Amino acid sequence: MKFFIDTANLTQIREAQALGILDGVTTNPSLMAKEGITGAANIINHYKAICQEVEGDVSAEVIATDFAGMVKEGEALAALNPQIVVKLPMIKEGIKACKYFSSKGIKTNVTLVFSAGQALLAAKAGATYVSPFIGRLDDISTDGLNLIAEIRQIYDNYGFKTQILAASVRHTMHIIDCAKLGADVMTGPLSAIEGLLKHPLTDIGLAKFLEDYKKGN
Ligand code: E4P
Repeated sequence: MKFFIDTANLTQIREAQALGILDGVTTNPSLMAKEGITGAANIINHYKAICQEVEGDVSAEVIATDFAGMVKEGEALAALNPQIVVKLPMIKEGIKACKYFSSKGIKTNVTLVFSAGQALLAAKAGATYVSPFIGRLDDISTDGLNLIAEIRQIYDNYGFKTQILAASVRHTMHIIDCAKLGADVMTGPLSAIEGLLKHPLTDIGLAKFLEDYKKGN
């Protein structure tokens, strides 16, 4: 399972990278705005900076909602760095743009996916990644994890190569459940990733080992 961090915060990206387990980064316009990154030129520079911090894929989202605009924006983003994955919204024009980019060998991430049917379309259009938003489904009392299971079954039935990128991961159990269900990738906050480290018996056991070592020395 690949681990992506879902942030535009360079400090957190560096921290996850330092753990040695980071495979990539996802961003979206809201995450950019949260870091105070505004204006096309600043956003482009920030994508370049993120690419310097990690070796893996970096999803950069288009703002255009029409085919021609998405193609123009996506081509400019893809030209920044081979690590860039063009992130496209799950709308009709986004699917057309996904097909365009996949036929040109440019990596894509179809975002804002909330149903198995949408994920099927993204795979048909040759998406590199599909991003089902599990946390936002949970927010409206709908089982987000069930969507991961449905997409896994459909993709396996037909051997689709599109990678299931579990997005809108909010906490550590989401990561574990997505791993059990066979998601190819998860993207979440640093706090959810670091939650995987924690177990009180680890802390108690380590304290005892260190205490016993001191007794013998
Ligand atoms: C995915 O690519 C999105 O950036 C993200 O996971 C959305 O998460 P949220 O629902 O916590 O905003």
